[in-house]
Amino acid sequence: MTRIMSAKMTAPKVLARKGGDKLRMVTAYDFPSAQIADRAGADIVLVGDSLANVVLGHEDTLSVTVDQMVHHTAAVARAKPSALIVGDMPWLSYHTSIEETVHNAGRFIREGGAEAVKLEGGRKRLPMVRAVLDAEIPVMGHIGLTPQSVHAMGGFRVQAKRASAAYEMISDAKALADAGVFSIVLEGVPDVVAEMVTAEIPVPTIGIGAGVHCDGQVLVFHDLLGLGGGDDLPKFVRQYARLADDAVEAMTRYFADVQSGDFPGEDETYHMPAESLEVLRDLTSRPQAADHLLADEAMER
Ligand code: KIV
Repeated sequence: MTRIMSAKMTAPKVLARKGGDKLRMVTAYDFPSAQIADRAGADIVLVGDSLANVVLGHEDTLSVTVDQMVHHTAAVARAKPSALIVGDMPWLSYHTSIEETVHNAGRFIREGGAEAVKLEGGRKRLPMVRAVLDAEIPVMGHIGLTPQSVHAMGGFRVQAKRASAAYEMISDAKALADAGVFSIVLEGVPDVVAEMVTAEIPVPTIGIGAGVHCDGQVLVFHDLLGLGGGDDLPKFVRQYARLADDAVEAMTRYFADVQSGDFPGEDETYHMPAESLEVLRDLTSRPQAADHLLADEAMER
């Protein structure tokens, strides 16, 4: 497959795409998923804390740790994608103090090879956002349905449906943009609200369940490729493949071939040179000769 974009994407280049070509963002959690995303032309790969759900099998994102996130970010970085690598700061890694926030953000860069980090939340998180930016680390914002607030929100619910909540969200977006984030993810909000935010701020918005008017879109790797176990995907997911079904079908054929003896075939088998085989047969029929040969070879070594 041809690579669609060869030049390395950076946070300033993402910012410069405001109102231009739509940004293509997808999550990736390891070396092969980063390679696939990059070959398909991703502008941004997000090592999302959705790792907790789609890779580690948790119910929500709250249990994933900085260590786990950094471990997976480093695997993504080893793919050396042209896409910008954004590490998702997990719950409690930027909530307790400025020092801890900057330390944790720095781990994503230094140990994980990320080129930016994402933090959930609006004005409430501004001191943390500013501190990370002050440490020269580009920040992506994330407002609307913020999965790390699942308990505070009372479940995974579409946000900003009421005028007052939508107004608050627009204020959050403006504050983050003023602070200097290079883009903002808008998740689980009505399309008109995302459209208003997108019109109001000078940084790109990247939507997930936020309608078509954002400056870009993001989906979870496993959702869009049909790699998950279940069919109860959110309404906003479009599934472009059913790779889990394809994988089960392929593996079922492999097991059938194993049982029938059809696998491995001649082409999939290593062979011994005929003369070595002859010697081996001779040796196994005369164990004393074998002892001599092995002793001679040991002497030669
Ligand atoms: O963790 C994640 O996958 C995300 C995206 C849904 C934006 O935060």
